Amino acid sequence: HDHHDTFHRFPLHMVHGIPLMEPIVQQWGPIEDFQARPDDLLIATYPKAGTTWMQEIVDLILVRGDVEKAHRAPTHIRMPFLEICPTPPMPSGVQQLVDVPSPRVIKTHLPFQLVPKSFWENRCKVIYVARNAKDNVVSYYFFDQMNKTQPEPGPWELYLRKFMEEKLAWGSWYDHVCRYWDERTNHNILYVFYEDMKEDPAREIRRVMDFLEVELPPEVLEKIVWQTSFQVMKENPMANYSSVPSTILDQDVSPFMRKGEVGNWKNYFTVAQSEVFDAHYQRRMEGSSLHFRTQI
Ligand code: A3P
Repeated sequence: HDHHDTFHRFPLHMVHGIPLMEPIVQQWGPIEDFQARPDDLLIATYPKAGTTWMQEIVDLILVRGDVEKAHRAPTHIRMPFLEICPTPPMPSGVQQLVDVPSPRVIKTHLPFQLVPKSFWENRCKVIYVARNAKDNVVSYYFFDQMNKTQPEPGPWELYLRKFMEEKLAWGSWYDHVCRYWDERTNHNILYVFYEDMKEDPAREIRRVMDFLEVELPPEVLEKIVWQTSFQVMKENPMANYSSVPSTILDQDVSPFMRKGEVGNWKNYFTVAQSEVFDAHYQRRMEGSSLHFRTQI
């Protein structure tokens, strides 16, 4: 077995009713037992909701706008991915995190109920980023084409159906966004919308600063807005995942920094697909006080 064999499209298996990549399921024990520290910061999202964007914002806030420092390593090294399986030579997320000095910033896509209990027991701060379902599923569709560890996405029509049937990796988008929304007042959760970040990045970055209790002068905030813009991040090798081998993330198929827009879904949903999706969405989200914008 050479490394190329190690990375194949993993099937999904269930953990407490949530479909996850097989190697994640195989090492579920250490993930469930993960020991959070009180000063850990967790960035939680459904896949493709703007995780990397928020990670870059948080890191730049914590280094007080020092761009050199933010360039010290790629995103996934600076802020390890909790549930990621070992991808040789990289150890698993849990193993990586043992050696990270406090305060740690940790990424997860786990739905609320699968987040290790120690995060809640320690009252850790959590930043949740949510993105409207239509842009989220389009982004995920392109990602599953280029990410060679995720199941084959197949044709768009079927992929969209799988999303609606809540069968994609990390499970139901609907439950994911709603549960964190409902829990935000019970825990130390800052809930941020991708669409709000696009509309007024400075305003949303200020919310994150307040949450992290970091004060920065206006010119540093401006610098962070610029450094975390789509155009700059797309060209930043420490933020655009170009350091990950193309055997895992094939950016010739689709770049990780793909479009970064609100409303890009309109290029992929047919009118009929949009109508069916909206009707199902209304039924599925009925009674929730959570509202998204699909354009700004
Ligand atoms: P698109 O595929 O719609 O372009 P995640 O980091 O959770 O995997 O999310 C990736 C999505 O966030 C991609 O969406 C990516 O382009 C977008 N993104 C990353 N950085 C961004 C930025 N600075 N501004 C806007 N969107 C960004």
